[in-house]
Parts: sequence; structure tokens; C-alpha cells
Amino acid sequence: MRSKNKTAPNSPIVDPTAPAAIRKRLHRWFNQNRRTLPWRETTDPYRIWISEVMLQQTQVSTVLPYYDSFLRAFPDVFTLASAPLEAVLKQWEGLGYYARARNLHRAAGTVVEDRQGELPRTYDDFRALPGAGDYIASAVVSIAFNRPCAVVDGNVKRVLARLLLIDRPVNRSSSTAVFKSAAEALLDPRRPGDFNQAMMELGALVCRPGRPDCAACPLTGCCQAFRAGCQLEFPRREKKKPVPHYYTAVGVIRKGKRMLITRRKPDGFLGGLWEFPGGKLEPGESAVDACRREIREELNLSVKVDDHLMRVEHAYSHFKISMDVFNCRYKSGRVTLNGPEDFRWILQEEIENYAFPGANRKFIPLLKKKEK
Ligand code: ADE
Repeated sequence: MRSKNKTAPNSPIVDPTAPAAIRKRLHRWFNQNRRTLPWRETTDPYRIWISEVMLQQTQVSTVLPYYDSFLRAFPDVFTLASAPLEAVLKQWEGLGYYARARNLHRAAGTVVEDRQGELPRTYDDFRALPGAGDYIASAVVSIAFNRPCAVVDGNVKRVLARLLLIDRPVNRSSSTAVFKSAAEALLDPRRPGDFNQAMMELGALVCRPGRPDCAACPLTGCCQAFRAGCQLEFPRREKKKPVPHYYTAVGVIRKGKRMLITRRKPDGFLGGLWEFPGGKLEPGESAVDACRREIREELNLSVKVDDHLMRVEHAYSHFKISMDVFNCRYKSGRVTLNGPEDFRWILQEEIENYAFPGANRKFIPLLKKKEK
């Protein structure tokens, strides 16, 4: 049942269309509640850029260790541009959405080649970099260069939907423009970087998805959902189709002390990462047969399947997999690639030099045990 919320006596109802009141409250709250985060301790646009790329679709707590280690490996745009893509993917291993790393690497090349290492300072120039969408361009130029560009991410959409009772589904692409113009109308043109970060921070810490902490919110006096008592009904979401579930089989093919890994093509899903060879089961096919068939089709090798190592369950952003992993022995054939871009016969101790997808990382520790 919906119950109307009363505003506290010290937070009078404010005209929600009055951006000045919202900005003032938001800035005051952010000054007192902002988390100390490494990318907030710097004015270096490169560092801010790296943080925002990592934070896209990823939580702060996950990003923190990656951010430090990435910047130790690539402290400026020149070191990033001149690093091999492999090294960048290795740093990104486990963070997911690997297109971000590939694009970041390409964009660093563009910044060095075309701009002598200077990051673009305007929204349009930033958007022209490989892989830079509206979010990244707005976040970096507002935070690093104080440009009046409004950031819209999932947290901001939730705050706006509740604050202004926007009933467009947040996960429908045709809603994007509505949230963007609402954010632009509220944006503080004098402190756009702080304003954007405050909106994101409020969404992350207070205006949370399932359990908004309205008692701690600086904007209850302006929040239409709070007044109507319908915070939990916002943001609206369109029902998504259930994610597909695929059954796959992969083989750890050993030949003497070495095992075979292959590299995925550079573009597309998990592009450029290394993996153990295999693929999807065909209808009615057993996992063992699929393992043998995929290895024959993709590599032109014949293998003996020894035993079942483990079943891995893994969720990617748009589908789930159940993956049966088999220990295999090389029988015959010379590797001819049909699908993968590259291959290596590696020693156990070399495995950490390569970047693998999350599903592969789940069984790699077992390979070490078997060796001992
Ligand atoms: N999420 C993504 N970028 C952020 C930032 N700069 N501050 C707070 N939350 C964020």
C-alpha cells in the first residue's frame, strides 16, 4: 500500500523544478559525505579518464584494486599507448566488458598520435575518441575540465526518476533522451564535475535500488516519489527477456609438459583474450563429443578425452553458461586455426602471463593442483 511521506519540519517542500535548491542541497551533502577515492585526489585528466572507464557498469569496490594496479603499469597516456594490447588486457583480466580495455588502448594511441598526448577538453572532441560514448565524454570533461555536461548512468537515472517521477523505463533506449535532458536541466553549470559526482554518489549511497535511505537524503524536500510514498515503484523497468543459457565443453589438451591455449579474435565478445579451446554443444550432443568435435573443427587436432575436470557455472552480462571442462591428451594433427586468432603450447608456470575470461579462471587453479 502506498503511504504518503511527511517531510521533516526542517526540509520544507521545494518546487522540484527549482534546480538551484536541488544543487545547493546536493553540494552540501556531497561535501560532507563524499567517499575518499583515489580518482578524487587527482586533477590528472588521464587518471580521471581511466577511473570513469573502469567505473562504467562496475562498482567502486571492484574497481579500486584494478585502478591502482593499472596506473602503476601505465602511469600516463604514453605508456598506455605504447603497451601491447595483451598487457592491457592482462591488467583488465576479471574486470569484464573487455571492449572497454581495447577501446581505451586504441584511444590512447589516437591521443598520442593526433594530439601529442593531450586529452580532448571538449565533449565533442572526447566523443570522437574510439569507444567514448556519452557517459565517458560527459564524465571526463565535466570532472577534469569543468565543462557543463550532464552525466547519466544507472545511479543518476534512479535519482532522477524518483526526484521528478519520470515514468519512462530506465532500460529502454528511447528513454535515454528524457533522462539526459532532465539531468541537463538540473546540472550546476558552475560546478558540473562536483554536481555529476554528487548525483552518482547519492544514487550509490542513499537513493539505492531496493532500500533507499530517505532519512539520510538531502533531497526529500524536493523528491516527488518521497512525497507520494512511491520510491520503490521508481525507476520503472521494462521486463527483460530471460537471458539465454548455453551448454559448452572445453578441453585442457596436454602434450608432454605443455598445454594448448588459443586466443579469440581481437574484436567481439571477450576479444583478444586467451582461453582453452572448446565451444557450444549441438542439440543432442554429449559434452565429451562436443569437446572433441570443437577441437577438431577449430584446431584440426585429434585428442583423447581422459576425464572430467569440473563443471563451471558462469554468468556473463547477456547470457549464462554451464561449461564442462575435460582433461585431454594430444593424439595427432598439426594446429590449423579455424576461428581462433592464435595459439600457444604453454608450460603451467607461464599461465599467469595470459589474460583469460572469467569462466576459464574458475578452473585454472585446479590445473596447478594436478601438476603438483
Ligand atoms: N560512478 C562512476 N563515476 C563516479 C564518480 N566519479 N563518482 C561517483 N560515482 C561514480
